[in-house]
Amino acid sequence: MFEGSTEEEARGRILEMVGEYHDRFHARPGFERGGRIPYASRVYDHREMANLVDSALTFWLTAGEYAERFELEFAKFLGAGRCALVNSGSSANLLAFMALTSPLLGERAILPGDEVITVAAGFPTTVSPIVQYGAIPVFVDVTIPQYNIDISRLESAASVKTKAVFAAHTLGNPFDIKAVKEFCERRGLWLIEDNCDALGSRYSLDGEEKFTGTFGDIGTSSFYPPHHMTMGEGGAVYTDNPLLGRIVNSMRDWGRDCACPPGRDNLCGSRFSRQMGELPYGYDHKYVYSHFGYNLKATDMQAAVGLAQLEKLPRFIERRRHNFDRLYDNLKGLSGKLILPEACEGSRPSWFGFLVTCLPGVDRSKIISRLESGNIQTRMLFAGNLTKHPCFDGMRRTGKGYRVSGTLENTDRIMNDSFWVGVYPGMDGEMIDYMSEEIAEAVK
Ligand SMILES: Cc1ncc(COP(=O)(O)O)c(C=O)c1O
Repeated sequence: MFEGSTEEEARGRILEMVGEYHDRFHARPGFERGGRIPYASRVYDHREMANLVDSALTFWLTAGEYAERFELEFAKFLGAGRCALVNSGSSANLLAFMALTSPLLGERAILPGDEVITVAAGFPTTVSPIVQYGAIPVFVDVTIPQYNIDISRLESAASVKTKAVFAAHTLGNPFDIKAVKEFCERRGLWLIEDNCDALGSRYSLDGEEKFTGTFGDIGTSSFYPPHHMTMGEGGAVYTDNPLLGRIVNSMRDWGRDCACPPGRDNLCGSRFSRQMGELPYGYDHKYVYSHFGYNLKATDMQAAVGLAQLEKLPRFIERRRHNFDRLYDNLKGLSGKLILPEACEGSRPSWFGFLVTCLPGVDRSKIISRLESGNIQTRMLFAGNLTKHPCFDGMRRTGKGYRVSGTLENTDRIMNDSFWVGVYPGMDGEMIDYMSEEIAEAVK
């Protein structure tokens, strides 16, 4: 088949065929009333598939040229100083948190037993790294209908042991960044923004609008398929702080001191001429470990898909906003039955979903079962109240390992009465309108 072709020509033909394959077998069928409306899904075309095959043909497999390009372009898109590509959003959260435990941070390093302020109404892997390390998550309540950390609870939650705030921008809605940032700055705390559900959300601070994830010390993203863009599995950690960036890379790559990318050696020129720890002088820097690290790297195939998605991201963000607005307009007549979501002041969210809370007398389970049986997918706000889950049984029994500051009244309300539906960019007006009609019927 490739007789007489150069490798480049052969590759070109394969990629052309991949495009044809995509258009023939992956074309999306139009929506018909009653058809399935997922809360989220991959949105892609032949470019993602061609990039994936291109990287497969190169067969580098681990992080390589595509990964390097993705890190640069993603950081540029966000306006972040540097970005580390990792294999999931949960890994990104793990790395972001563990970076703050590095001895290189001196007195500001988080130690076991130190406290980190967070919320229980969210995704578990915002909290897991805190617990796994032996630091203490301190849970404060959230506000409804923003579903974000209640800033009026921050001062009373703080103690001499508090070292950081680690919170998500819930379903794309930024938390009150101004207040949280001021609180952190006043007390010398780290701020980690779990930006996994908020890629593309904007927030204005002191007259400057920026992407969420770039206001704190470190931000994280997830590229799992339902998220704003996907590479199957994947995530990213970003920061403007060069030292944190170096620590993140070290911990991602086995804890090593050396910063050479896979397959490259001696970029620093002093691979065999350093004195490190108590090692013999000149011990190969490639195998010198400044941290107890992990291997959380993503592959080049993931990055290849991510690069094609990144080109579509601005359109995805706009579509999410558009879908949210249309759904909001359709449902605003139901405000006597449902509490509708509200954007944080000074923000332009890139919504992950449309979260509602049932008012007293409205039965969430009845609504959900009607929607689900009508092919409309629904979701809870993840854990609802994480402290009520089986993973907390031991800690609840002993009362050790975590702290609740004040009550979690709204968190419990969310656990009992809230649910959300999708606004993902693959949804068109017809789907949104049909879903709105079904929701209206279900709350009757
Ligand atoms: C707020 C939040 N953080 C972290 C994650 C974890 O991301 P991943 O599924 O890529 O591990 C999720 C997952 O959906 C999430 O919603």
